[in-house]
Amino acid sequence: MNPNKALWEKGDFTRIADSMRESGEDFVESLAITPDLQVLDLGSGDGTTAMPAARRGANVLGVDIASNLVEAGTRRAQAAGLANLRFQEGDASDLNGIGDDSFDLVVSVFGAMFAPRPEAVAREVVRVARPGGRVVMGNWIPGDPTLVAQILKISGAYSPPPPEGFVSPMTWGVEANVVERFGAAGVPKERITCERDTYTFNFPGTPKEFVAAFRQYYGPTMNAFDAAEKNGRAADLQKELEALFESQNRSAKPGLTSIPATFLRVTVARP
Ligand SMILES: C[S@@+](CC[C@H](N)C(=O)[O-])C[C@H]1O[C@@H](n2cnc3c(N)ncnc32)[C@H](O)[C@@H]1O
Repeated sequence: MNPNKALWEKGDFTRIADSMRESGEDFVESLAITPDLQVLDLGSGDGTTAMPAARRGANVLGVDIASNLVEAGTRRAQAAGLANLRFQEGDASDLNGIGDDSFDLVVSVFGAMFAPRPEAVAREVVRVARPGGRVVMGNWIPGDPTLVAQILKISGAYSPPPPEGFVSPMTWGVEANVVERFGAAGVPKERITCERDTYTFNFPGTPKEFVAAFRQYYGPTMNAFDAAEKNGRAADLQKELEALFESQNRSAKPGLTSIPATFLRVTVARP
C-alpha cells in the first residue's frame, strides 16, 4: 500500500475539515473566481475550497489520493446540487490522464504539499495549468508557532524517524524551496509570490474535544498516537497537544474553540 494514500485514508479528514469551512470560503473569495473558470483543486479533501469555487460558477475538478475523501466530496457535491463539481482519485505528483494546459486555476490548500516528490508536484501543476493561468498553494510553515506546524512538530517527536530520502511536506512552507521547485518546472522567480496568511479552525467543542477529534480522525496524529502507545507515551502526547490547543484558543465562548494558524500563500503566474 502507498503510505501517502494510507495516511490520509486512515482516519476521516472530513471531521477536521468541518472546522475549516469558513476559512475555505474566505480563501476562495480572495481568488476572484468567475463563472466558467476551469479550476483544479489538488488534494481537495471533501471540497472545503472546491465547493465554494463551484458555487461561484467555476467548473471544478477535485483530485485527491484518498478514496474515502473523493467519495465524501462527491456526496457533498450531489447534496448541494452542484453538477459543475466533480471529484476523482489521483496523485498530485503524477496527474496522468489530465491533459496539458487544462486549467485556468490550479489551487491546492494544504493538499499537494503532502505528496512525496515535490519537484514532480511542481512540474505537474505547471503542466496542467494553462499559459497565463494561475497556481495558488496554501502551505504550512515549518517552525511556525501556530497550530498545525506545532501539531506536526509535536507528533514528529513521538513518531519513528521517516524513511531515508523522505522530504518533509513542511519544506513547501519555505519560500526558497518554492522558488527552486517552480524554477525547475520552468517558472521564473518574478512570477512567484509568497505571503503569510491565516486559516482559522472553528470547532464546536472545547480545545480538549478538538484534540480528541485529531486523535480519532487526523491521519498524522493517529499515527503519532499509534507510535506513542507502543512506547507508553500516549498520555504525554495527549497532554502536550491539549496544552497547545488550550494556549492557542482565541474563543471566549465555552463551547467553541477558535484557533488561527499561519500559512504560506504561494501564487504562481503560469508563463
Ligand atoms: C490537510 S488535508 C486538506 C484537504 C483540503 N484541501 C482542505 O483544505 O480541507 C490534505 C489532503 O491532501 C490529500 N493528499 C495527500 N497526498 C496527496 C497526493 N499525493 N495527491 C493528492 N492528494 C493528496 C489528502 O488525502 C487530504 O485530503
